Amino acid sequence: MQPKVRKAVFPAAGLGTRFLPATKAQPKEMLPIVDKPIIQYGVEEALHSGIQNIIIVTGRGKSAIEDHFDVSFELENLLETRAKKDLLAIVRSISDMINVSYVRQKEALGLGHAVLRALELVGQEPFAVVLADDLIDAETPCLRQLLDVYSFFCSPVLAVMEVPRESISAYGAIDAEPISHNGSHDRVYRIRDLVEKPKPEDAPSNLAIIGRYVLTPEIFDSIQSVTPGSGGEIQLTDALKHLLRSRPIYAVRFEGTRYDAGDKLGFLKATVEYALRRPDLGAPFLDYLKTLKL
Ligand code: UTP
Repeated sequence: MQPKVRKAVFPAAGLGTRFLPATKAQPKEMLPIVDKPIIQYGVEEALHSGIQNIIIVTGRGKSAIEDHFDVSFELENLLETRAKKDLLAIVRSISDMINVSYVRQKEALGLGHAVLRALELVGQEPFAVVLADDLIDAETPCLRQLLDVYSFFCSPVLAVMEVPRESISAYGAIDAEPISHNGSHDRVYRIRDLVEKPKPEDAPSNLAIIGRYVLTPEIFDSIQSVTPGSGGEIQLTDALKHLLRSRPIYAVRFEGTRYDAGDKLGFLKATVEYALRRPDLGAPFLDYLKTLKL
C-alpha cells in the first residue's frame, strides 16, 4: 500500500516576467487577489485537501514569502495593544496554519529543476506539487480531487482542463483515454503520451495540464534523466514523459474554475470574481461596476 500524501511542494522560484515591472522586486506569488497573496490561496487549498507540510521552493528576491508565513511579532504586538482582535486572528492564522520548509533554487532552470530541489525534504514518499499562480476555485479543492484518484490507483495524477484548441500551445497537452473510475466515465483518464506546448494542429487533444500534480518519488530519477531544453530549462512534462515508460500516469479533468493569476488578464479576472463573492465587498463593488456602463 502506498503511503499517504503528506507534503506539498510549491515551486515559487520563477522570474514572473509576464508581470514585470511588478515582479522586479517582489515575488508574483505575493501579489494579492483582493487582500490575500496568491500563494496563500494555494496553501489553503493544500490544507483543505488534508496536507499540512508545505515545502516552498524559493529563489532570489523571494524573502517576502518567508516573512508572510512567519510569525510577525511587531505586527502582532501592535494589533494586540490596539485591541484589533479580528486582524490579529487573521495575521496569526497564517503562521499557525502550516508546517513550512524552504529550499532554494539558485537559478530558474525550469519547473522540473525546481521540483528536484525538494528531493531531500520530500524523501521517498508521494507528494503533491502546487503551482500557486494557477488559482483554482472549486467546491471540492482541486488537489483533493487528485488525491482521491491517487488513493485508488497509487500512481501519479495530473490535473487537466479543456482549453480552446488554438490556446493549447501555451500548455502541456495529454494524449489519453477516458477510464471508468467510481462509476464516472468522463473525468479520469489514463495518459498515453504528453507533449509540451504543441502547435494546435499537432496537439493530441485539447486537454491541457495545469498546475496541480500528485507525484511519486520516482519522478526525481526521471527529472535527472531528461536533457534540458532551450535555455537549459528542465521541464516537468519531459520528466513525466520519461516516467510514463515505467509506470502509468493518470489525469483528472477537475471540477472548478482555474485562473492564470500569473498572467495580467487572468489576474484581473480572478480579482473581479473573488471581490464580487466577498460578503464585505461584493455589493458595493458590483454597484461601482454598474456605474461603468460597460
Ligand atoms: P511559469 O511558467 O509561470 O514561469 O512557472 P515564471 O517564470 O514564474 O513566470 P513568467 O512566465 O516568466 O511570467 C510556473 C511555476 O513554476 C515555478 C514558478 O514560480 C511558477 O510557480 N518555477 C518556474 C520555478 O519555481 N522555477 C523555475 O525555474 C521555473
